[in-house]
Amino acid sequence: MISIALPKGRLGEKVYRLLAESGYACSDYTPENRKLVFSDEKSGVRYFWVKPADVAKYVELGAADAGVAGKDILTEYAPDVYEMLDLNMGKCRMCVAAKNDYREDTFRPVKVATKFVNTARAYYAAKGRDAEIIKLHGSIELAPLLGLSDVIVDIVETGTTLKENDLKVFETISEISTRFIVNKASYRFKGGEIDAVLEKLKEKTECSDRKDTAKR
Ligand code: PRP
Repeated sequence: MISIALPKGRLGEKVYRLLAESGYACSDYTPENRKLVFSDEKSGVRYFWVKPADVAKYVELGAADAGVAGKDILTEYAPDVYEMLDLNMGKCRMCVAAKNDYREDTFRPVKVATKFVNTARAYYAAKGRDAEIIKLHGSIELAPLLGLSDVIVDIVETGTTLKENDLKVFETISEISTRFIVNKASYRFKGGEIDAVLEKLKEKTECSDRKDTAKR
């Protein structure tokens, strides 16, 4: 049996549906349920619902054989796992954003509010720009509005949160999507089972890619 950590929430539900359609459904699964563990002997799979930011930790430490995590989290925490497949879901961008009328003062360090402190630090270090990083846990967009920071480094999906708060993107740091990750020791011992899941997922994601391309 292989165990898979899924991110709690809309994206996790979507990934579960993909896995279920790939032959890894759980008979006792219901979306409204608050149960955190589901398993199915016949499919040979057990799922855990985990906070999205914690999935990589569960997989790295071997509490789950595999999991589904955003590239934002993988870049930020650099867990020691195998990143096996881009699921082409949960697409968004890591960006530097600020108030619409922001003008950078290059004579002093830029104040940056973010949840992604390592990502922000690496980005400004690569540019050779002094930055004061302020770690927040959510509602990052408030920081420049209240003068806590000059800019934010955060995820932008639709851009609605920025727009509704009179902020805009100044730079794009990277493109983000959801990845299927695997614990290194699990892959040694259960490589066959894990490869079988990956093959099925690849077929499904390529198929939905083709549908997307056809729609465009
Ligand atoms: C994320 C991100 C932005 C928002 C971007 O926040 O931190 O606030 O989504 O999405 P949009 O471009 O579609 O508006 P999340 O919902 O995770 O909440 P939090 O960071 O405030 O906790």
